[in-house]
Amino acid sequence: MEYFHYRDSAGQQELFAEDVALSRIAERFGTPSYVYSSAALVRRYRAFSEAVGDALVCYSAKANDNLAVLRCLGLEGAGVDIVSGGELARALAADIAPAKIVFAGVGKTGAEMAQALDAGIGQYNVESEQELELLATLAADRGLRAPVALRVNPDVDAKTHDKISTGRAKDKFGIEFNQAEALYARAAQMDGIAMRGLAIHIGSQLTALAPFEAAFVRLGELCLRLRAGGHTVSHLDLGGGLGIPYAEDGPDAEDGQLNLADYGALVQRTKRDLEAGITLEPGRWMAGPAGLLLTQVIRVKRNGNKQFVIVDMAMNDLLRPALYGAWHDIQPVAPRPGEALPVDIVGPICESGDVIATDRALPELRAGDLIVVRDAGAYGAVMSSSYNSRMPAAEVMVRDADSALIRPRLDYDAMLARDVLPDWQTGPAKA
Ligand code: LLP
Repeated sequence: MEYFHYRDSAGQQELFAEDVALSRIAERFGTPSYVYSSAALVRRYRAFSEAVGDALVCYSAKANDNLAVLRCLGLEGAGVDIVSGGELARALAADIAPAKIVFAGVGKTGAEMAQALDAGIGQYNVESEQELELLATLAADRGLRAPVALRVNPDVDAKTHDKISTGRAKDKFGIEFNQAEALYARAAQMDGIAMRGLAIHIGSQLTALAPFEAAFVRLGELCLRLRAGGHTVSHLDLGGGLGIPYAEDGPDAEDGQLNLADYGALVQRTKRDLEAGITLEPGRWMAGPAGLLLTQVIRVKRNGNKQFVIVDMAMNDLLRPALYGAWHDIQPVAPRPGEALPVDIVGPICESGDVIATDRALPELRAGDLIVVRDAGAYGAVMSSSYNSRMPAAEVMVRDADSALIRPRLDYDAMLARDVLPDWQTGPAKA
């Protein structure tokens, strides 16, 4: 079943999230609002877990860190992959078992490591010698041994967008592949460190299996070499990165090369061949299709032969089109009958780059109409800002016929309360 789907009522089609009409959500919570389907999150978590078999699935909180999203997946048994102290606080607040938390990231600070040690998390994916030394000291000071996987850089091109490619030698991530063996040997000697294994993550929005395969093979070779050298490598963290088709015929369309079943089979084969515990860090695949951004048309204007539909969301709510040229499907909530004509969907922000979609064939849109931006559940709300002093979109979760506000829109008082005038500015202005 599709969790966002059109229903027919008296000849008029209307888009629903599970059993809730999106027009109803706009009435109750206003626009712009992110809308997440709880059933979609659950179904996607279960499908992923089934496909990869016996593995610890740590949902990557960076994709969508809303507490209700973490809790929804946590209730299903998911662990969480974090990259900051803030994400750790969220994972703990969502009641994720610390043993199921993996801490990744190239710039963990000492304070963040200390916070994680005090919480007793399950694994640190360490990305440099300096980080390892600091973690060892902090752990030893506490009489602990931090469970560590070395994140290695396999120098594999993930063939994805340049800005989200992380496994090439020129990228900042991971430990240089040919340094990994020596560092592993050093780490295994350190008080304060308990070596568990290796980790990789070569990029996000991968749409082909071959780069995963190449990276897993390289990781396997290193794992076997380490074991031959007498080291224990009990766990392999294969990262995230599984892409989603943003549209059936859009630029990210599933091209037949990559699907969940093939990815799952590759993970299971890797586990069998290397006899290691497997951790995975999917973000986008889990949350992306489970969310959309609901927005209202402010007005429609024509400039030359361009028809612009100006909506009440903008690049501050969903940065992906402006930042990566990303393509998201646009659908009207209640499509008008008649011919579909090309329009540009744009936000109110004072930048020409504030374009959500270009030349999309859509049925006629008028001021007050609602439209949605699909597949916005991952890297949507988390990347929002308050640029132009705009209040970022609210967030709503739907379950069956229920809907709940899970992150209210800020109001102006809350916005103003963030700024503080220095005391030398508090006098009256010149007349
Ligand atoms: N693990 C690590 C170490 C990562 O760096 C990432 C994503 C993930 C897991 C999750 O990857 P996923 O399964 O979601 O592909 N803002 C960009 C995506 C940035 C991804 C960063 N790292 C976008 O909107 O496309």
